[in-house]
Amino acid sequence: MSELMTTHPADAPRHAQASPLLTAEDRDLQRRGRDLVFALAGALRALQLYPLENQAVVEALSSLEAAAQAVLGHEDEIVVRYVGDFFFVNDVRLRQDLASYATFGQVGRALERHGIGQLEVFHGVERGEWTALLSLVNAEPAEAEPFAAFFDRLGRTAVLHLAVGPGRDGEPDPTGDKARQIAKRTYAQTVAVARDAMTGLRIGRGVSLRPVKRAVQAIVDQVLTNEASIVGLTTLRDYDEYTFTHSVNVCIFSVALGKKLGFDKHQLYELGLGALLHDVGKVRMRIELINKEGPLTADEFQEMQQHPAEGLLSLFEMRGLSEMPLRAMLVAYEHHMKVDQTGYPQSIRRREPTLFGRIVAVADGFDAATTKRSYQAQPWPADKVLREMRDNPARGFDPLVVKAFISMTGIYPVGSVVILDTYELAVVVQANPNPEALHQPIVRVLFDPLGVPVSPPRTLDLSETDASGRPRHSIIKTTDPERYGINVGDYFV
Ligand SMILES: [Fe+2]
Ligand SMILES: [Fe+2]
Repeated sequence: MSELMTTHPADAPRHAQASPLLTAEDRDLQRRGRDLVFALAGALRALQLYPLENQAVVEALSSLEAAAQAVLGHEDEIVVRYVGDFFFVNDVRLRQDLASYATFGQVGRALERHGIGQLEVFHGVERGEWTALLSLVNAEPAEAEPFAAFFDRLGRTAVLHLAVGPGRDGEPDPTGDKARQIAKRTYAQTVAVARDAMTGLRIGRGVSLRPVKRAVQAIVDQVLTNEASIVGLTTLRDYDEYTFTHSVNVCIFSVALGKKLGFDKHQLYELGLGALLHDVGKVRMRIELINKEGPLTADEFQEMQQHPAEGLLSLFEMRGLSEMPLRAMLVAYEHHMKVDQTGYPQSIRRREPTLFGRIVAVADGFDAATTKRSYQAQPWPADKVLREMRDNPARGFDPLVVKAFISMTGIYPVGSVVILDTYELAVVVQANPNPEALHQPIVRVLFDPLGVPVSPPRTLDLSETDASGRPRHSIIKTTDPERYGINVGDYFV
């Protein structure tokens, strides 16, 4: 160690254990990474001591921005990890010496209090985002589950180009209220990212793929660890935000379908990326067409049919294209194709849509048909949509994918409002985990037979049987939540 301390940084080994010689780029990164951690320490300290407008704070933040920019000028993103007293920047370990020892320790401890083990910085980060994040780091950590609490607080801010990850002990509890909150946060952030990307493309501003990729990774993580919560959020249908919530819902459904079909994590990520951007071509359509109330004329419909091809073109224009997998891009082109080769766009040479395209088509068809949109006054109940998708071949969905979708959501998907044989009104909150009981989901009873609200709502497993083996409760039919003034999303938050 003493030898390390006296060595000039340029000669220091990349990792203390392995000691391979550093490349010139690694040495640069090590130097810039060290500057960045020092600048973080300076900014944290300044924000602790002085008000925001104080000159010391302004200067510390300028140094921090410059230090981050120095790394980002050479890298796609910055990943700062703090592991067992050491800092790594994009996997290069920063050399610890007498001069850096105290400063690294300060920053490390500041992060560790909140259970943070990783900080990511993306292109486009703004000063306000740094201030928001660092002020949260300076704030007192929550007593219980500090990382989950920090993640939640950060999610309430407008920070998009900075992200945190847990330290080794900070993984959130995958069940309960916290899990629901984290799912909700992930959902809201993904809507914001989709809005940002699509608006950027519409006004011709360069759009970074980084936050989009990051958001899709978060959705994949949520589907893998917290599926019921994140799928439940697809029922939060916000009419004003239709384009964006629709994209996020299609992403969630597609990833959950991919999981059901046995995809690995990387495949799920590519699928999710394609799904989130499947309608990106709509940003090239006239806004009046997108927002039109009432049915489209034949001409307008034809114009609308350009969005898959336009989508593919938009994706070619997005920054970070080299990292955009082609099969994710094809989803935009293929999601309105039918398996019998009808639908649109028409290929000159006959070709089957890819599996990604067929999955997103099902997710898209389901979400579009069950959501109230500008040109669809009355959405269909979810169970009718599923039956139609399964039983009407003219709809052109891949029957195996539809089958997988139904086995994932149940016949009555989460968010369906149902009337029970007791004349109670209930909302489906979870598919029955037993594949034999797809028609018997878990529901929450909202109104008693006389229409009086049940407070708090009672949860029932419809597969429960009485002494004679008959189900205690069953569904008579689905109904329209609006008839009862129910906002289904309220029961998932
Ligand atoms: Fe579309
Ligand atoms: Fe769509």
